Amino acid sequence: MKILITGAAGFIGSHMAEYLALKDYDVYGIDNLSNYYDVNLKQHNVESIADAGVKFIKADLRFPEQYQDLGRDFDFIIHFAAQPGLSKDSTFQSYVDNNVLVTYQLIQFAKHQKQLKHFFNISTSSVYGKYATVSENVAPQPISTYGITKLAAEQMVLSESRQQNIKASSLRLYSVFGPRERPDKLFTKLIECALNDKKFPLYEGSLKHQRSYTYVGDIVKGIYNALKVHNALDGEIINLGHFEKHSTQEGVLNVEKILKKHIQIKNLPPRSGDQQETQAIIDKAKLLLNYQPKTSFREGIKQQIEWYKSQNKIMV
Ligand SMILES: NC(=O)c1ccc[n+]([C@@H]2O[C@H](COP(=O)([O-])OP(=O)(O)OC[C@H]3O[C@@H](n4cnc5c(N)ncnc54)[C@H](O)[C@@H]3O)[C@@H](O)[C@H]2O)c1
Repeated sequence: MKILITGAAGFIGSHMAEYLALKDYDVYGIDNLSNYYDVNLKQHNVESIADAGVKFIKADLRFPEQYQDLGRDFDFIIHFAAQPGLSKDSTFQSYVDNNVLVTYQLIQFAKHQKQLKHFFNISTSSVYGKYATVSENVAPQPISTYGITKLAAEQMVLSESRQQNIKASSLRLYSVFGPRERPDKLFTKLIECALNDKKFPLYEGSLKHQRSYTYVGDIVKGIYNALKVHNALDGEIINLGHFEKHSTQEGVLNVEKILKKHIQIKNLPPRSGDQQETQAIIDKAKLLLNYQPKTSFREGIKQQIEWYKSQNKIMV
């Protein structure tokens, strides 16, 4: 089975690529190593996935000519590549280009794959908006350019399924954390601040925000389960996350306790587009994918701390 994974140098895509390669799938990883965050971290991920047997291609998915040489015999595409996050430094155009245009171009590529069995679009709970506490049949109401463009990408993919051009589904992930978490995200920032005595930048009001923090290994297993039952998934949208929610404050306290360090806070104004609460309703994932996230909040944080310490030489 030949699988194309986009965004394979990134946080979640690299774990997925590695997992499937170690299960003896023929995995091709594609990524443009965008400079949204430290490219050294992505290079390091590329080395890890190559060690696991993934064939890595550096290419920018906005430009069709850059991946035409990949061939026409992929069985599956798992699409992680995106402009993620809510950074004020990310332009409107970068979200449109890397979430909407990239997905459009990838769909054109997918339509030429003679034996494509399924296109998995990786979506996000951000499409739901301020409160992502609902099931898949509730209309999304995104409040950020990130959420809006990810919803557009999702609908583009599902529209091809509705027209029976490709078989496809969309998996909406919830606050993924664990080893290789992006440096702009909560736990990597907390751990970095605690270990280096830096002040943690706290957006006003965010201590009370609640999230379905989901360990990356549990996300990878959920997507793998989806791959196994792809025949039953055409046209589906499925929430993939941990059913428990935790506040940012609990995150801070857990990192402090595990590292036995006090984290100092630097207060920032509220962040535009931030969600108030997410809690994954995963009845559908349980039913269709036999999905059951297993890693606890505390255990996941411990794993991430271990990873951070082991990689500390390359963190800047
Ligand atoms: N991290 C989370 O908590 C989370 C939650 C929900 C959904 N998601 C989704 O999961 C996916 C992966 O997120 P992540 O956190 O691993 O982010 P990431 O930034 O680490 O990975 C995305 C990768 O896509 C690549 N990319 C971006 N534009 C590209 C382009 N034009 N051509 C080729 N490659 C390109 C980047 O270089 C990066 O390596 C995204 O689609 C994101 O929306 C993430």
